[in-house]
Amino acid sequence: MYDEPNSFDALKSQFKRSFQEEPTFIVVAPGRVNLLGEHTDYNLLPVAPMCIDREIVMAVRERNDAEVRLENTDPAFSGRSFSVSGKLTRGEPGDWANYAKAAIDTLIPFIEKTRAEKGKRGAPIRGFEALTCSNLPPAAGLSSSSAMVVASCLAFCAANGFELEPAKMAELMRKAERFVGTAGGGMDQAVISLSEPDEFLLIEFDPLKAAPLPLPTDARIFIVDSGEKADKALGAKDEYNRRAVECLLAMHVMRKFAVEDVAWKDELPEAGKWASLRDVYNACRDAEIAWQQLLYAAVSRNPYSPEELFEKLGRDVVEQVCATRQMPALGGEPWCRWNGIVLYERAAHVFAESDRVFRLSEAVKNNDMGVMATLMNEGHASCRDLFHLSTPRIERMIARAHRAGAFAARITGAGFGGCIVVLVAKDEAENFVRKFWGEDPAASEIIAAKCNGGARVVAL
Ligand code: GLA
Repeated sequence: MYDEPNSFDALKSQFKRSFQEEPTFIVVAPGRVNLLGEHTDYNLLPVAPMCIDREIVMAVRERNDAEVRLENTDPAFSGRSFSVSGKLTRGEPGDWANYAKAAIDTLIPFIEKTRAEKGKRGAPIRGFEALTCSNLPPAAGLSSSSAMVVASCLAFCAANGFELEPAKMAELMRKAERFVGTAGGGMDQAVISLSEPDEFLLIEFDPLKAAPLPLPTDARIFIVDSGEKADKALGAKDEYNRRAVECLLAMHVMRKFAVEDVAWKDELPEAGKWASLRDVYNACRDAEIAWQQLLYAAVSRNPYSPEELFEKLGRDVVEQVCATRQMPALGGEPWCRWNGIVLYERAAHVFAESDRVFRLSEAVKNNDMGVMATLMNEGHASCRDLFHLSTPRIERMIARAHRAGAFAARITGAGFGGCIVVLVAKDEAENFVRKFWGEDPAASEIIAAKCNGGARVVAL
């Protein structure tokens, strides 16, 4: 919708009405849909997302002082202003200005350090004013939050005449989002920073690698919003961070086992250095051990109690894990609301999902839609049964998508509501939309996923 610079005219006029001057540049940051690789990224395991042509667009003008002023064309997001001259403070949970603050809070020390290294110390940090508009549904699993963080990052850099490599932006903004309180991985910031048009990406982490993959030529990808909101900065935050804690605890349990067990310690000699599920996954692969074997031997299929974990790993280790994932210590709220600490199922999902992502990246190179569909359907079952991300409404939509002729349908993004992503044969695309709608014309809109590339600045 915003492909051509002159299609920004309405936004530019509204900017002028809000700020009495013309904007000097436009920032575009798209949302994304994840085709496969759910909840793998914060375990440093691979993901396969694509950018979509739903986006956040900001008209921006740099200021001569250190103020940031934010306006939004959507009256649900009222105006915000703050100074960037001191330490930034987080607003109420859910406050949209938090995403801009997250970006800026990380950028200021980085810009100052980079300038100092280049001997350019002294240039004052400047703020900006921006009018934001978006056609990306919030809290729908399409990464509106990271799009807002990346858009704010580009706006702040451009306002300060600071060049930031896309890969560096992806890494900095991944850390920046912690400001909002979620222990997310780096998928969203990476795909939004690094995409080119008409592709999706196989992304690996630490070091960040993004390999372009061809979109299937004989299939179409659709996104359907369930309308069930899953706001990672609000209600879904604990559920999301809980899983990040459980994955890391599962790693610790496997590490302890592999270090201490007589039968295993020679097989996995570097186990004492493991720091993520990725390290466990790679160690098993290198030693030609099926990860299932280690998981089965090391981790109980039943949920753990806090006491069991304290005893097994030591209270310090467990508390440290919770703290790094921005969660309170085990035992109290919100943990006491849940039925134990689930380790086996979480790790089983993460490992099997990673296998699937690697297989998907091979299948698409051969344009093998059958394999792609199977992997996506298996991914959904795993998200539902092992990671417990689905909801009754999402399940009804998945079933409806299959009845309407989809090859594959799965929940996408953090889960607990949000969107499903659907793979449909190209020739069946129109039929699919008709049949899916036919069952429930009041259903939310069906978005045809198209990638116009990642985040960018358009000079005016
Ligand atoms: C959210 C997070 C991502 C990723 C997904 C789940 O979108 O921001 O980092 O963890 O959930 O795959």
